[in-house]
Amino acid sequence: MIPKKILVTGGFGYVGARLTPHLLGLGHQVRVLDQMLYTDAGLVALKADQSFPQWQSRFELMRGDLRDPVVVASAVKGMDTIIHLAAISNDPTGDIDEVLTRQVNFDAVGLLLAQARAAGVQRFINASSSSVFGIKDCADVTEALEPEPITFYSKYKMLSEWLVTAAASPDFCAVNIRPATICGYSPRQRFDLTVNKLTADAVRKRVITVHGGEQRRPNVGMSDAINLYGILTQTDPKLINGRTFNFGFENLKVIEIARVIQGELKDLNVEIKVTDTLDKRDYHISSAKILQVLGYQPVSSIRAEVANLRQALDSGAFPDIDAAEHYNMKFMKGARSAKAYEFASR
Ligand SMILES: NC(=O)c1ccc[n+]([C@@H]2O[C@H](COP(=O)([O-])OP(=O)(O)OC[C@H]3O[C@@H](n4cnc5c(N)ncnc54)[C@H](O)[C@@H]3O)[C@@H](O)[C@H]2O)c1
Repeated sequence: MIPKKILVTGGFGYVGARLTPHLLGLGHQVRVLDQMLYTDAGLVALKADQSFPQWQSRFELMRGDLRDPVVVASAVKGMDTIIHLAAISNDPTGDIDEVLTRQVNFDAVGLLLAQARAAGVQRFINASSSSVFGIKDCADVTEALEPEPITFYSKYKMLSEWLVTAAASPDFCAVNIRPATICGYSPRQRFDLTVNKLTADAVRKRVITVHGGEQRRPNVGMSDAINLYGILTQTDPKLINGRTFNFGFENLKVIEIARVIQGELKDLNVEIKVTDTLDKRDYHISSAKILQVLGYQPVSSIRAEVANLRQALDSGAFPDIDAAEHYNMKFMKGARSAKAYEFASR
C-alpha cells in the first residue's frame, strides 16, 4: 500500500466518521474538510480511538464551507487524492431548498475539481448515489442505462458526475461511485436510513413496522463502503479513470430486510407489523461492473451490519434515537428555523 495525502470532504458525516479512521489506520495522511453540520460525534470518537498509534501527526481538520473558494484552495493544497463525500445527502433534505442543494451538490463540486487540478491533485473519488437512476422497471439496472433522477438531490448528484467524468485526464484520475443506501454503525449515526431505523426499532421496541414491504431497497454495508474508498486510493487509474460504478450487492424487499433483522436479533423476539402504503417505489441496481472490472469482493452484508449496530445500541452509544442529529431532514429544518446554517447565502 502506498501512503497517500488524502482530503476527505464531509469526513465527519455518517460515512466519513468511519472512513477517516479507516484511512488513518491504513497509514495515510488525512485532512478533513467538513462543516460538521451534525455534531462533533465523529471527531470525539476518533480522539478516543486507541486502535492505531500516532494518527495525530497524520491528521488535520478544517472546519469550513465547501462553497467557499478560499477554504477550498487551502483544503486541496499539498494533497494527492480527494475523496469527496460532503453533500446535502438525501432526497428529503435536498427537497427543503433546491438552491442550497445545487450549491453544495453541484456548484461546489465544480469548484473543488478546478482547484484540485490547479493544485496538482492526481485522483478524485466522488461519492455519487444510485438514486440517480430514479425508478426503473428493467431487470438489471446497470451503468449502461441513462439516469432518470426524480429529486433535487439525485439530479445534482447526476450533474456532478458529469463534471467529474469531464475532468478526467491522463494526469487526473476521476471516478464516480454510486453506492446503494449504506447501512450500519457510525459514531455519527444516521437513523433516517431503512436498515438502521428498523434495527433501532427492533432493539428498543421489539417491533418493526414495515410500510407495504414489497418495494426493493438496494443496500450496501458501511464496511464495504469504507473498504472500497480505501481500495480506490490505490487502484490502477487505467481501471477507473473517467468511469462510473454502481455499488450495492443486496436488492432486498423491505419485508425481507425486516426478516433479516428479525433473524439476526432472534433473542429479542422481534415482531414485524405490515401496514399499507401508497409509496410503491421499487429500486434495484446491478453492481456486476465493479465485481468484474475491479474484481471487488464484498466484505459485509446487511446481516453483519445489523449485528454491529446492535452492539453499539446495546452499549448505550445512542441514548436518544429520536434526536434530530440522527435524521438529516429533521436536523436541517431545525437549523434552518434557528438560522444556525446560512442557507443559500452565497
Ligand atoms: N449514507 C448513504 O446511504 C449514502 C448512499 C449513497 C450515497 N451517499 C453519499 O455519500 C456521501 C456521504 O453520505 P453521508 O451519509 O455520510 O452524509 P452525511 O449527511 O452524514 O454527511 C455529509 C457531511 O458533509 C458535510 N457538509 C455538508 N455540506 C457541507 C458544506 N457546504 N461544506 C462542508 N461540509 C459540508 C456535513 O457537515 C456532513 O458531515 C454523500 O455525498 C452522499 O450523497 C450516501
